[in-house]
Amino acid sequence: MLTVNDAFRKFKSRLELTDREQTNASQRHKEVREYVATKFAVERDFLTGSYARHTKTKPLKDIDIFFILAASEKHYRDKAPSVIVSDVYDALVEKYGASAMRKQGRSVNIDFGVKPDLDDNTDHRILSIDVVPAFAAGDDFEIPCTDTGKWIKTNPKIHAEKAVNAHDAYSKEWKGLVRMVKYWNNNPKHGEKPVKPSFLLEVMALECLHGGWGGQFDREVQALFATLADRVVDTWPDPAGLGPAISDGMDSARKQRAQTLLKEAGRQATVAIDYVRKGQNGDALKARRELFGPRFPLS
Ligand SMILES: Nc1ncnc2c1ncn2[C@@H]1O[C@H](COP(=O)(O)OP(=O)(O)OP(=O)(O)O)[C@@H](O)[C@H]1O
Ligand SMILES: [Mg+2]
Repeated sequence: MLTVNDAFRKFKSRLELTDREQTNASQRHKEVREYVATKFAVERDFLTGSYARHTKTKPLKDIDIFFILAASEKHYRDKAPSVIVSDVYDALVEKYGASAMRKQGRSVNIDFGVKPDLDDNTDHRILSIDVVPAFAAGDDFEIPCTDTGKWIKTNPKIHAEKAVNAHDAYSKEWKGLVRMVKYWNNNPKHGEKPVKPSFLLEVMALECLHGGWGGQFDREVQALFATLADRVVDTWPDPAGLGPAISDGMDSARKQRAQTLLKEAGRQATVAIDYVRKGQNGDALKARRELFGPRFPLS
């Protein structure tokens, strides 16, 4: 029978980006970039967000592409953020059709119509891409935010550096743990995601995983859920110190709900540890699959 640590290792690897997924993501990137370049003057574009940092969970969806617009598009920067978001949306509808498109606060989502199976497998295909229009602002970028009606500053390079440093300081187990809690967050059993945006989990993990890797996944996960539950009600600024607080995505009712669900997850993690202590390994694996979802292995 699979030991607990082996089960977690397998779970971790099932949340890793595969070569075939990367190939599919770059094909989609190329296709979207070529089309967007026919509609807007684009200086450059790149894959970013959790995808680029390897903190994206499975199934792979909402992969962010930043499109840095050229000076000739700068007139958009003087208009409300909703104007560029609408124009990008309209342009993409022409190619992908309205049913595949969704306007979001800071981006436009293109859904490729891929449906995961019961085990969350997608045959190595990505589900969707977020097209994020952006302008360069010195070393940073400005992106539209229709929720606040303002342009916000961001710097993916700083977020990436913080993630790399945290990962190195945690015996290179940090990103794996982040993908696991984000996978828990995406579990459809919750209905609405407990923590929104899921980037907040990564931001919290920069502080909530400290003191070094202890060597046991079950203990790490239990402690992480408990700490996240304690601190999810706090205010969490942008780690780059540029954009609005990442925790602004939740009001106090939503924070309370997240706290309750994270506490419950911590309790389930404790129950799973007790099963192992009692020699009920099979029950421990089932409890974790229940906690995380179908990518947690039973054998
Ligand atoms: N409030 C903010 N201020 C500044 N930058 C932000 C803010 N929110 C998000 N970002 C940047 O934009 C990127 C994309 O945002 P998004 O919400 O898609 O997060 P993500 O890390 O890609 O997580 P997910 O796995 O849910 O897609 C983030 O990775 C981060 O670099
Ligand atoms: Mg994203």
